Amino acid sequence: MRHDSPTHLTMPKLLGALGLTILVSLTLAKDFLGSLPPQATDLSLSVGSIIENATQEGNSSGCQGYNLQTLQEDEAGLTAKLSLVGESCQAFGEDIVNLTVRVTYETATRLHVNIFDTSDEQYTIPQSVVQRPQQIKDAYRQSSDLVFNYESSPFSFWITRKAHPDATPLFDTRLKSMPPTPIPAVDSSDTYKNTTSLNNLSFVFEKQYLQLTSALPKDTNIYGLGEAVASSGFRRNLTSTVQAMWARDVADPVDENAYGSHPIYLEHRFDSATQTSQSHGVFLLSAAGGDILLRTPPSGNISVIQYRMIGGVLDFYFFSGPSPKAVIEQYGELIGMPTWQPIWGFGFHLCRWGYQNIAETREQVTSMRAANIPLEVMWNDIDLYHAVRDFTSDPVSFPGEEMRQFIRDLASSNQHYIPIVDAAIPKQVNASDLYDPYTKGVAKDVFIKNPDGTEYVGQVWPGYTVFPDWFQNNTQDWWTEALRNWSQAGIEFSGIWLDMNEASSFCDGSCGTDADISNTSVPFILPGEPGNFVTDYPECYNSTVSGPSGNITVNGTLTCHLDTAVSVSLNKRGLGAGKQEGVDLNTPQYAIHNGFGRLSNHALATNATHVDGQVELDTHNLWGLMEEKATHLALKSIQPGKRPFLISRSTFPSSGRWTGHWLGDNFSLWAYLRHSISGVLQFQIFQIPFVGADTCGFVGNTDEELCNRWMQLSAFTPFYRNHNIKGAIPQEPYRWDSVADASRKAIAVRYALLPYWYTLFALSSTSGTPPVRALFFEFPDEPELFDVDSQFLVGSDILVTPVLYPNSTTVQGYFPGHGNVTWRDWYTHEAAKPTSGQKLELQAPLSHINVDVRDGSAILLHAEPAYTIEETRQGPYSLLVSLDFAGKAQGNAYIDDGISNPPGPSRTLTFTASQNQLVINGNGSFSIQQRLQDIFILGVTQVASNFKLNGQAHNATYDATVQKLSFSNVNVDLNGDLTMTWA
Ligand code: NOJ
Repeated sequence: MRHDSPTHLTMPKLLGALGLTILVSLTLAKDFLGSLPPQATDLSLSVGSIIENATQEGNSSGCQGYNLQTLQEDEAGLTAKLSLVGESCQAFGEDIVNLTVRVTYETATRLHVNIFDTSDEQYTIPQSVVQRPQQIKDAYRQSSDLVFNYESSPFSFWITRKAHPDATPLFDTRLKSMPPTPIPAVDSSDTYKNTTSLNNLSFVFEKQYLQLTSALPKDTNIYGLGEAVASSGFRRNLTSTVQAMWARDVADPVDENAYGSHPIYLEHRFDSATQTSQSHGVFLLSAAGGDILLRTPPSGNISVIQYRMIGGVLDFYFFSGPSPKAVIEQYGELIGMPTWQPIWGFGFHLCRWGYQNIAETREQVTSMRAANIPLEVMWNDIDLYHAVRDFTSDPVSFPGEEMRQFIRDLASSNQHYIPIVDAAIPKQVNASDLYDPYTKGVAKDVFIKNPDGTEYVGQVWPGYTVFPDWFQNNTQDWWTEALRNWSQAGIEFSGIWLDMNEASSFCDGSCGTDADISNTSVPFILPGEPGNFVTDYPECYNSTVSGPSGNITVNGTLTCHLDTAVSVSLNKRGLGAGKQEGVDLNTPQYAIHNGFGRLSNHALATNATHVDGQVELDTHNLWGLMEEKATHLALKSIQPGKRPFLISRSTFPSSGRWTGHWLGDNFSLWAYLRHSISGVLQFQIFQIPFVGADTCGFVGNTDEELCNRWMQLSAFTPFYRNHNIKGAIPQEPYRWDSVADASRKAIAVRYALLPYWYTLFALSSTSGTPPVRALFFEFPDEPELFDVDSQFLVGSDILVTPVLYPNSTTVQGYFPGHGNVTWRDWYTHEAAKPTSGQKLELQAPLSHINVDVRDGSAILLHAEPAYTIEETRQGPYSLLVSLDFAGKAQGNAYIDDGISNPPGPSRTLTFTASQNQLVINGNGSFSIQQRLQDIFILGVTQVASNFKLNGQAHNATYDATVQKLSFSNVNVDLNGDLTMTWA
């Protein structure tokens, strides 16, 4: 780990503009090719004669990579020592001469390849931040699915499957397997500055520039690499993806970096000859800023993935899958499984920025009840605060004792309350200003510093602010105390919403160090304030159409123009100043494709300094994760024995251990309704499965139809919250009759499915299995599904086909299984007509969302969805069994008290149907109070009779039109076993 002593560091430069753009000409690479050592001759032939985007300056010895010097094998893997070939490369700074490669076969399905500087000065992520296995006890070298292969000179490696040694490697850094021309530049400023001889495929390991490239099959499928709203959808574009890794406070841009950094991808390869597929995963454990590129050179028949990181080490993990679900599980096994969610978290949440006082907040609760739309959790945004300060409530609009009463009233109706917590802590504006969290924080020295040891002062909503330094030992206690005091002062929260934790700062550098601290304004006008009213018409509004909503579809003809995607163009890139020797904290020479340009823009400056000399440049991407862990631990202490409920914005690998996530500031546009599905799927890969979008859209004004469809769709995503920006028209689901209707219906389905959701999340927390699934996760050999992100599966059995475009009363969707699976409509139980690889058209009137149940499934349901999760759980169960062609079905349900942390006693029920018999077995000591009331068996092809329940005759009805057998009022105790037969 690099420990920069403060004396090496300089004050932040307050740079006004983006870095310089250096345009370069193409240069013939004659010198470079002439200087290649003999062992690289192949490379010179295959690379071709033009080195794209290289300047004429610099040394001529070139970026020839590294040679292997020594190699030692051991039981668990091998250790290799490498040294730089030639003098130096200086692509973007100083080369590191000696590298170590440690290869460890960590499990049968996980291979670890860590390439680091032998002197161990580069930044590595502390174990306390991302815990991973250190001592590998068992040797998996022989039993591993994966094989590490290498070449000595220049050093390169490739990963193969043991079972398929001759197949295209899963990962392959050999230049000779690369395309005959270098990969296309990202844009005109994507240049290498200091050398004529850097091939843009070379392996480079410098203090502030690490580059590694791997060949990919041209027709492969890549998912992950985020956080991103990608114009290509869930599957990433192999020719144009530039995923910058830099946590960024920005309203969901398309094809740019956003709130979190997740350098993990899942690759799915389909073999058309055998019509079978295999998946694997690749994870780079690095907090460094960087770009990850997917490129397909015009010539050659491969694509590449290229990593360009501006620090750290190249710490790779490979997961063998071979199914998509297995890859995700194996990733979870490494970084940690998702936290257990309290069961009330699955209820419907309501929020907005702009509930101005307690009365307005209460009014929402009352109006939701009056409209009979279930409301589980009421939220407040920063309106709650006094002077926009964390851990306060405004004495006039949200007085503490009234808030206490309000929250207790909610609790007495089995409802909950969640407030926001911002990342930044306001400074006291003068001596008479008392703000305990700041004073105590100063006393405990918990805030981030400038390089010279003074307080780093940024600017956020409350004015000038400081930022917790999570590396400081005192910070946890200080944070826990602040949250506890807040709760004791009346804000008796059930969970916490963590915002602005990229961490965001609105000014440049430590702007408050010499400023007038009493100025508490922000450098822009807030939405909804004079000068920044949200006045845009909803996307599909047409003022010539009558009707209160002005919505074209609700009233008639489609007149609006819809963008298929909202894209934001990248700022022009520059290379930065890069004049310093060694490490440049402020402007690393390689400028990553951060959408804001400079790394410090709208964030803490990269030279902000943590307790032991760690700097923001290295740790920026970890800030959110560390806050999530600290808050999770604080809630555990404040609410002992209960599962912490957190929703947070900025995430990093392993964040799922502590928190859920919302997809940030989206737009009230149809494109973002569609993007929300890809977002939810992406976070299943990232092992933060409890995720959802701002339902009905955040930025801009929504409308009735969009909100109608969105309330339906989000009812099938894990985190279900309607949230709105300040100043926009209200969008609570009771505001329009059709939206209220759609919401009631969708929430009833959601609450009926609660035991199923809960079981999926138990599986996620124990095995890392993703609860929400892309269609190909379940049907990996059906290539037409590989880019489907307009439909998704909840678990393996519930297929959701939402309407994603306005003015539609039908929707098209796949019914996977190539005709061998029967999908039955959730509402009517009618079977869809099986097809092979074709889409079906379904009726989808407003307020109706298509949901289908897979055959071979057995799903425990709540028979009587009620107003809250608690009331729903107090009611009886029902069981929906859907037989497959062979008359079989299987399912299970995990049940516990829904709240205890760690989970206490539980009971897992197993449902098995075959040969006209259904058996229910249970395991575990949790006592289930509610009875099983009804059993429905679908797919009973012949009129049945002779119904028996545990050997006793029992009534049942048979509906031949939908092949449904219904056993009503069976009143079964689920603490015992059951056998039910029919003939
Ligand atoms: C930014 C968050 O993303 C948004 O959800 C919130 O409403 C505003 N901050 C105000 O707190």
